[in-house]
Formats: sequence, structure tokens, C-alpha cells
Amino acid sequence: MIIFQNVSKFYNNNSHQTTALEDASFTINSKEFVSLVGKSGAGKSTIVKLLIAEEKPTNGRVIFGSYDVNKIKQHELPQLRRRIGVIFQDFRLLPNKTSFENVAFALEAAGRLQSDIEEFVPQALEMVGLKDKMFNFPKELSGGEKQRVAIARAMINHPDMIIADEPTGNLDPINAWEIIKLLIKINELGTTVLLATHNKEIINYLERRVINLENGRITRDEEKGKYILV
Ligand SMILES: Nc1ncnc2c1ncn2[C@@H]1O[C@H](COP(=O)(O)OP(=O)(O)OP(=O)(O)O)[C@@H](O)[C@H]1O
Ligand SMILES: [Mg+2]
Repeated sequence: MIIFQNVSKFYNNNSHQTTALEDASFTINSKEFVSLVGKSGAGKSTIVKLLIAEEKPTNGRVIFGSYDVNKIKQHELPQLRRRIGVIFQDFRLLPNKTSFENVAFALEAAGRLQSDIEEFVPQALEMVGLKDKMFNFPKELSGGEKQRVAIARAMINHPDMIIADEPTGNLDPINAWEIIKLLIKINELGTTVLLATHNKEIINYLERRVINLENGRITRDEEKGKYILV
């Protein structure tokens, strides 16, 4: 379960203060599929960064399962981050590693045995339909394929939650749908999904919970939300 309790995030740059998030409160239960919607600069990625402890809130509390994220100790960070798989608009694959190696890297970092790597990496790549591209490098893959490698990498440690920050932003509509279908499948298999997106068609198709942000404030939080931006 995720709880944001009166969370604000202010950035101070050159004596100018930016409000990235202001007094945001919401709860996400296990196995939910939640979309975060809002214009550029509304605060979507800020919520993501607070969840993975890349930023600290100025005020308020962020709870992830048994972790109070703002109080997390440095040595607990890898454990927290292993429980959250993140995928980004720009894929963030290592360019000099194959699909296999990109996914294996996340298992190696978790200290897993070589025998596990050889068993689980092909399974993860099969789940995303990329077994035949296992030994290709990112530059030899299409955008949709790169994002599917990133999903396999995000899923390899069986996280409680997948966060997808504008995962379809660099993809054409057909590839975008493939990624959304995969996220739905991952959710149906029991993983919580948090999707930050601008994509109206996707939001309206999903008919799931939508949290709307405007200038760092939550303006709507609806069970079967529609894409409404004013
Ligand atoms: N490190 C930073 N320093 C100063 N301001 C920042 C920083 N990071 C984000 N901001 C500001 O915080 C606000 C929220 O940014 P955020 O990245 O959360 O928006 P977003 O909803 O993800 O937008 P986009 O759709 O463009 O990705 C913006 O005004 C942004 O300029
Ligand atoms: Mg963003």
C-alpha cells in the first residue's frame, strides 16, 4: 500500500521557489491500476521521484508498504527500489549491453546466482514477447521493443509495484498500445501499476482510477476517471 499524507515538494533555485507538489494526499492499495494525469509541470514525475526516494518531500509523509520513504536509511534504499520497478519515456537501457544483459544486470545487482539469471532472464523476455531479440543491442531494437526490454528488467525482481512515467511518450500508437496491454497484463497478474501519462485515448480506454494534478495540486481522484484537463 502507498500513502501520501499532506505531501508538498518545493524547489528553491536562485531564490526562486517552484511548487512541484502541494498538500497531496492519496492512498493506493495493492493491485490497483492508477493513472496520474496532468499537464507538463503538473507534478507527475515529482510523485514518482518521491516514491523511489530520489527526492525528499519538503512536508508530509510518503509510505510505501512498511517503509516510511523519507526516513529510509541509505542501506535500505536498494531493498526499497527492488520492490518498485520503474520504466521511463526514454527507456534508459544500457547501450553496450544486449537485451539479456540489460535484464540480467538487475538480477546481478540483487546478488542473484548465475543459474537464476540463466533461468529467469529468458522467461522475463518471453513474457514481453522478445525471446528472439535476446542477444540484440538496444540500437538494433525498435522503440516498442526497447520499452519491452525495460519492462522485463523492471519485472525481473518481482516488484510489488510498477511505475511507468510516460512510457508511451516516444512510441507510435500501435507500439503504445502494446505497452499498455502489457501493463494491464502485469496488473492482472497481481502487481500494482502507477501510470503517469498525457495520453487521453489511453486514459479513457482504461476506465480505471485517475488522479488529476494541476500545478502540483490534486484536483480530482476518481474511480473510473476520464481524461479532463482544463
Ligand atoms: N530539480 C528541480 N528543480 C527545480 N524545479 C523542478 C525540479 N524538478 C522539477 N521541478 C519543477 O517542478 C514542477 C513539477 O515537475 P514534474 O517533473 O513533476 O512535472 P510533470 O508533471 O512530470 O511534467 P511532464 O509531463 O513535463 O513530465 C515543474 O514546475 C518543474 O519545473
Ligand atoms: Mg514528468
